[in-house]
Amino acid sequence: VVLGVDLGTSAVKVLAVDKAGTVVAQQSVGYELQQPQPGYSEQRPEDWVTSTTAAIQRLISEDHLKPEDIQGISYSGQMHGLVLLDANHQVLRPAILWNDTRTTPQCHEIERVMGDQFVEITGNRPLEGFTLPKLLWVKENEPEIWAQTDCFVLPKDYVRYRMTGQLAMDYSDATGTVLLDVKTGKWSKTICEQLGVPERICPPLMKSVDFAGNVTPKYAQQTGLTITTKVYGGAADNAAGAVGAGILSEDKVMASIGTSGVVLKYEDNPNTNYHGVLQFEDHAFPDKYYSMGVTLAAGYSLSWFKKTFAPDVDFTEMVASAAKSTVGANGLIFTPYIVGERAPYADADIRGSFIGIDGTHQRYDFVRAVLEGIIFSFKDLMQIYEEHGSQFKTVVAIGGGAKSPLWLQIQADIFNHPVVSLQNEQGPGMGAAMIAATGLGWFDSMEDCAQTFVHYGKVYEPIAENVTAYQQIDQVYHQAYSQTKGMT
Ligand code: XUL
Repeated sequence: VVLGVDLGTSAVKVLAVDKAGTVVAQQSVGYELQQPQPGYSEQRPEDWVTSTTAAIQRLISEDHLKPEDIQGISYSGQMHGLVLLDANHQVLRPAILWNDTRTTPQCHEIERVMGDQFVEITGNRPLEGFTLPKLLWVKENEPEIWAQTDCFVLPKDYVRYRMTGQLAMDYSDATGTVLLDVKTGKWSKTICEQLGVPERICPPLMKSVDFAGNVTPKYAQQTGLTITTKVYGGAADNAAGAVGAGILSEDKVMASIGTSGVVLKYEDNPNTNYHGVLQFEDHAFPDKYYSMGVTLAAGYSLSWFKKTFAPDVDFTEMVASAAKSTVGANGLIFTPYIVGERAPYADADIRGSFIGIDGTHQRYDFVRAVLEGIIFSFKDLMQIYEEHGSQFKTVVAIGGGAKSPLWLQIQADIFNHPVVSLQNEQGPGMGAAMIAATGLGWFDSMEDCAQTFVHYGKVYEPIAENVTAYQQIDQVYHQAYSQTKGMT
């Protein structure tokens, strides 16, 4: 088997997957998120290591995996989190995570110093979540820590370092630092020089499927693994999620609904330019890329609605009740900007709305409007692809949106594309396992691996009359942003 380690924000989940792509065992161990001040979000890197170790120990002791059968390990990691190491590779301060928002002044400074050149080099605009603004924050606010900094890595790179003794970062996560020149695949000297980040603190780069080292004798002793287990680079969680969902060619787009939502597309060409409206990152395999846009409140809009208006109703029943309403929720429209929006608007101040409330509306109309509003926000992102002339055919739905047949049909009708879900969705941990399986040579390529590991379920085809109805509603939905901007 191979182990796919999914190092998330609330827990690490480790999947053990066999050569047929079947999950034979899994273990998950949670850890704390520290919020010492509003907007701050930190974790102790040591907690990631002890939790990963505990999960692997349980796979061996409780699920009876034989250590000598564990041939390879790879990772999916929460992106952007800053881990600072001193010359002895000791951690200098808690990691500053992707959802930490303290770095607005540093983002403004990057824009001021570099302007559009920054987007040209990295494919991205500086956002609070990315790693570079966090480095600049430490430099400005914690000079004594900055002075001791020998190297920085990202969360899963630190865990890999502790398992193998080798420090490295893979390209898919490196693009998320916004210090990498996305066209040359090298750390950007221009950015380092202009913003005063010494290039020597940037770690060595590797591909996701590259061999990173064997498990060290010490780590083998701690976990029960053997030193013959091979460890591979791994990928950013969105890249690994895309691999696990089979997004390995330009004909598929992923629509993922978690607390936030992600629309993600495979990209062949590093010169594709979305002017920073969408994020642009290296994929988990060489010289391939992906772009993505994030809807901040996707599943969160629905859980907010349930908590506020339907606390006693079962979640699945609440979602299913939307079938009693009609296409277009009997004239009710919802915009899901309830915590601001990242893409396409990058507007922290915008807020959501219900438009067209009628005295005859029932709760199920509101539920339907929320389901539809989330998908209209995804449609805005898909439209960016369509305006760029993308020829994608199918949308692969994962997360909350893939659990309800009604919501899958709504997606097909609003996107006007066939929508499929995965037969046995396992999240980014499966992508991590596929990286290890490919690295080990079980398959010639990630595409070959996907043939065996990724299976799609029923296809939801768009229904013509619903498509037409939604196109009309989309025009109103689309205006709502500009009409409500500045009202709050
Ligand atoms: C992507 C992002 C999140 C994290 C979650 O830019 O910030 O999706 O990767 O782990």
